Amino acid sequence: MNVVTGSFGFIGRHITQRLLERGQTVRTITTHPDKPNPFGSGVEAFPYAFDYPKELEASLRGADVLYNTYWIRFEYGEMTYARALHNTATLFECARKAGVNKIVHIGVTGSSESSPLPYYRGKAAQERLLREAGVPFAVVRPSLVFGEGDVLVNNIARLMRAFPVFPVFGDGKYEVQPVHVDDVADIAVEFAHSTEPATVDAIGPEKFAFKDFLQLVAENIRPGMIFLPMPPAAGIALGWMIGRALGDVLLTADELRGLMQGLLTSRQKPNGKIVFSEWLQKNRESIGRSYTSEIKRHYAWKKSG
Ligand SMILES: NC(=O)c1ccc[n+]([C@@H]2O[C@H](COP(=O)([O-])OP(=O)(O)OC[C@H]3O[C@@H](n4cnc5c(N)ncnc54)[C@H](OP(=O)(O)O)[C@@H]3O)[C@@H](O)[C@H]2O)c1
Repeated sequence: MNVVTGSFGFIGRHITQRLLERGQTVRTITTHPDKPNPFGSGVEAFPYAFDYPKELEASLRGADVLYNTYWIRFEYGEMTYARALHNTATLFECARKAGVNKIVHIGVTGSSESSPLPYYRGKAAQERLLREAGVPFAVVRPSLVFGEGDVLVNNIARLMRAFPVFPVFGDGKYEVQPVHVDDVADIAVEFAHSTEPATVDAIGPEKFAFKDFLQLVAENIRPGMIFLPMPPAAGIALGWMIGRALGDVLLTADELRGLMQGLLTSRQKPNGKIVFSEWLQKNRESIGRSYTSEIKRHYAWKKSG
């Protein structure tokens, strides 16, 4: 039996799918146990009972592997990085007490406890908590993840469909190395069975300068797109305004800084197989047809349906 946090989310959903395809049993822990369950009775949902650790421990009892995807993209209202980190510590402690044999944790490329960017610093702190948890573990660190259900690539495509002009922040030469969500799921499931503690980046076979990445998306979505170079500060302000108009957070300043520092790449040999440019061509008709709102997914899904 496996517990996957966030089976109704993005990466967790694909890990769950993989495990079910292999005939394994999956239980999920989620912020929204009452969300529509795409797996029906195949996956039982439990809440992240961080304030009731005995309950959380009970939902983990009997699990061989815990696949952990829990983290927040940005601080919002009472949900801060400090709180998400405290919750992560509770989750790992409950896993230890429940007798979970292994934790496969989803990190991120470029995380470091000395990073000036709280998202990346928090992700590194999660890994430290994992090392201290006393449970055998593996860490899979994806770069920019694309595929069914992703937010970033989909929303870039959505904006390109809506506007004939697209901003390029700074010189656009900073690199990204996108990885498909199915590759991330495969690597995570594979590492559940490795006997050594392992930390591995999950990265796709193609690396792009970000301006070429945008160009490629545009060629598939809206050929003839005009790219407008923009200083990062103006880009952040623009992103804030569009996000506000959409009732969402489009891109945080930290996400842009991380991207511009090349944190969504790796020096490691690619281990993802799915080629972004080929995937894009196959999915050019469907991506960006609707906007995916982070706020709606995590904070207001009931209110907005
Ligand atoms: N997506 C990427 O491109 C990417 C790239 C590199 C690394 N990662 C890492 O991969 C992991 C999974 O990412 P994902 O995109 O698949 O995430 P996700 O599905 O949106 O969320 C993962 C889990 O965290 C919970 N969660 C997220 N934001 C929350 C919030 N604001 N309040 C309460 N709970 C929240 C979700 O709750 P629900 O169960 O209710 O959905 C879910 O259980 C994260 O640790 C992330 O740092 C992601």
